[in-house]
Amino acid sequence: APIRLRDYRRPDWSVEAIELEIDLGIDSTEVTSRITLHGDPAKAEPLRLDGEELELLTISLDGRALNAEDYRYEKGVLEVSDAHGGSVLETRVRVQPAANTTLEGLYLSGSREHGFLLTQCEAEGFRHITFFPDRPDVLARFTVTLRADRERFPVLLAGGNPAGSGTLADGRHWAKFVDPHPKPCYLFALVAGRLENIQRDYLTADGREVKLVIWSEANVIDRCHYALDALERCMRWDEHKYGRNYDLDVFHVVATHDFNMGAMENKGLNIFNAKYLLADPDSSTDEEYRAVEAVVAHEYFHNWTGNRVTCRDWFQLSLKEGLTVFREQQFSADMNSLPLKRIEDVALLRRTQFPEDAGPLAHPVRPAEYREINNFYTATVYEKGSELVRMIAGRLGQEGFRRGMDLYFERHDGQAATIEHFLSALGDANRIDLTPYLAWYAQAGTPRLHAKGEYDSARREYTLTLSQQTRPTPGQPEKTPLPIPVKLSLFDRSGTMLPLHLQGDAQVDGTERVIVLDKPSQRFVFKHVSAPPVPSLLRGFSAPVVLECDYSPEELALLLTHDADGFNRWEAGQQLAMLAFDTSHDGNDSAACKAWCDALAALFTLQTIDDALLADLLTPPGEIEFADRQSEVDPAKIHAQRQSLQHRLAERIGVSDLLARYRLLSTDSHAQLEAASQAKRRLKRRVLELLVLLDADQAHELAAKQYDSASGMTDRLAALSVLVRTNATQASAALAHFRERYADNPLALDKWFTVQAQVPGDAALAIVQRLENDPAFTLKNPNRARSLFGAFASTNPSGFHRTDGAGYALIAERLAQLDALNPQIAARLATAFNGWQRLEPVRRSAARLALEGLAQREGLSPNLSEIVSNVLQR
Ligand code: ARG
Ligand code: ZN
Repeated sequence: APIRLRDYRRPDWSVEAIELEIDLGIDSTEVTSRITLHGDPAKAEPLRLDGEELELLTISLDGRALNAEDYRYEKGVLEVSDAHGGSVLETRVRVQPAANTTLEGLYLSGSREHGFLLTQCEAEGFRHITFFPDRPDVLARFTVTLRADRERFPVLLAGGNPAGSGTLADGRHWAKFVDPHPKPCYLFALVAGRLENIQRDYLTADGREVKLVIWSEANVIDRCHYALDALERCMRWDEHKYGRNYDLDVFHVVATHDFNMGAMENKGLNIFNAKYLLADPDSSTDEEYRAVEAVVAHEYFHNWTGNRVTCRDWFQLSLKEGLTVFREQQFSADMNSLPLKRIEDVALLRRTQFPEDAGPLAHPVRPAEYREINNFYTATVYEKGSELVRMIAGRLGQEGFRRGMDLYFERHDGQAATIEHFLSALGDANRIDLTPYLAWYAQAGTPRLHAKGEYDSARREYTLTLSQQTRPTPGQPEKTPLPIPVKLSLFDRSGTMLPLHLQGDAQVDGTERVIVLDKPSQRFVFKHVSAPPVPSLLRGFSAPVVLECDYSPEELALLLTHDADGFNRWEAGQQLAMLAFDTSHDGNDSAACKAWCDALAALFTLQTIDDALLADLLTPPGEIEFADRQSEVDPAKIHAQRQSLQHRLAERIGVSDLLARYRLLSTDSHAQLEAASQAKRRLKRRVLELLVLLDADQAHELAAKQYDSASGMTDRLAALSVLVRTNATQASAALAHFRERYADNPLALDKWFTVQAQVPGDAALAIVQRLENDPAFTLKNPNRARSLFGAFASTNPSGFHRTDGAGYALIAERLAQLDALNPQIAARLATAFNGWQRLEPVRRSAARLALEGLAQREGLSPNLSEIVSNVLQR
């Protein structure tokens, strides 16, 4: 049965303190736990603790060993009869780290001989380590003592401040940690093994001396410096922007190659998927550098939004995730470029969250029910959640939002809070009622915002009629209107912004403002408008909606050419490309296609736009975005149509201009990491991709040369991707070279798998089948499994969606195998089937067949079953 938000009850028992003593071993680890209980004596509920697959060795209450009739341990619950407030329960259990393939709880990363032990507890991993009320609203003071063989486990780490260490008999040693901040058990972590570190002293703005330490296996410790710099930058930023200081004497960060997610914000001991911590020019792309900076910041920011103020229950997950994503987005924009960051994030939202919101897996940012919480770490909770915070922050303004955040921390520091608490604090600090925004948290589906403008030349008035509509989603047939802030400007036909005089509004002047649509439909009248204007709507993507506005191609081209706001300039281009796509018919260019090509060709020649922005402007929406707008999807056709759109663009710019620009961009005197240098590489890649469409032979030659002479991974991978998609002979040489060169670098090798799994069309399947037989392939490592099957099923629509259904059959088969090892990863991969109902009939029935076959298998995990049955809409 599902767990429901409305059934929330405060815990009957809380835990004041927990003392853990952990005797670590690869095959067998023994965990002694002493918890001091706090119970409400009025409630006669017996003590119930969560515990999964624990081998119970001893149990005692208040110093007295319990008899078999004093407790019961079954189905993941330990029930103890005679506990009372102040009781101390001591248990000793055994767990088996090396046998744990789920990468949840305590597990081994790497080989038995050389690997290290670590934990992942969020959301419910702690119950795989010891007995505890495994829910985020039970906050306890943690004291942890680790004991292990010194030779095999020279480094022992747990969250909190160090509180002594020493030697034991038989070559063993111990280390103790005390965390002064009460925390829920999902923030507990330990790490033990042979690890190297780099470190730096840091003085917080409020005067605390902190040691920042990054740990990794010896062979990659040199690649941790960029992360350490990023950590220092985001710590300073949080002090400055939000007045938040770090609150322990040490901050440990550990890299592992075996991790289900991106990273984890365990208090004082963050653990990272190596993909988001290691970076060096030879094996990381520019995008990966940015991702490292972003994830380091994300996890660090959790220390306040997530740890100091945590979540009452897992329905509130977006309270910490949406808010922390938003803070990371602000930080990254400050460190790099605001419009580029916004473009990247909105593109991600459209590629991942919009399809989720439009299909059988749709759920609100705060879901009302779930079966398996690990399935709810979704683009909706994270990315849409961040958009909701952004809307509210926009409503309050910079200072108002800061005031609200200050009050939120003041009220809820040390507590497990809810989304209502968050909105109240932000609203109260500004004397604004934010409760209307709660509806955004409760309602699934992406609202459609319809805009229609009418100009009255006699009255010199422009009337903008906005209306909204959200389609039904599973379990939510009726939708209510939401408050939708629309940031807008009006342009005249020469591309100049007009002063805005909104009827019935005291605020005069200004060329940009926000109007809020909170009814099904509303009219906004602008006065003193001398000629029919072109509206620039939803600037900066001021609300996570789909805008429907019947712009003419000329109007979009005007915005694409003149809008001063980099984001909306890109957005106009995206909408124009959509229009061009919708109106393209074989051979004959539509007006929209001409307008798109002409405007971009002009911007291409005019060398005034930043190279990176130009690269983004030259990129039409992705295949997934096009598919999202169609009622009957044929991925092969979408791929071909998108290619031909790009072909038109390449033709319009012309081979000689593209070549000239490619050559120009190939000389670069900047340092590798400088923004200008990254921008050049981004544009160079786009130009090369356009060149391929016009003069394949020449482009291959350039790509082969670029591959050979590349000074870093960005250029090398871009060249490899072009070769792989177009020229088998040159590609096989480069592929062999890459395979050999990075044989010992798993993160680089992942890219080798991915770039091949992304080859479009029917060729992809055979490639994937060949690659899964590569000796370096394994289902046991999540990064590797994702690099092949995730890349194929989730990012290569024309490869995965074959008419013969062989793509579906392969993935269904691998899902079953993966599920036996790691249910979380299997469930995530299964979301690739989202949207199958809207496929054209042939693919649709093939997909159904594969899914139904999978659903019928015995022994599927709760994780995978939930996704499969939801996708099937059972
Ligand atoms: N809290 C982590 C982050 O967003 C993600 C952990 C998710 N873990 C999981 N098992 N679903 O930084
Ligand atoms: Zn997070």
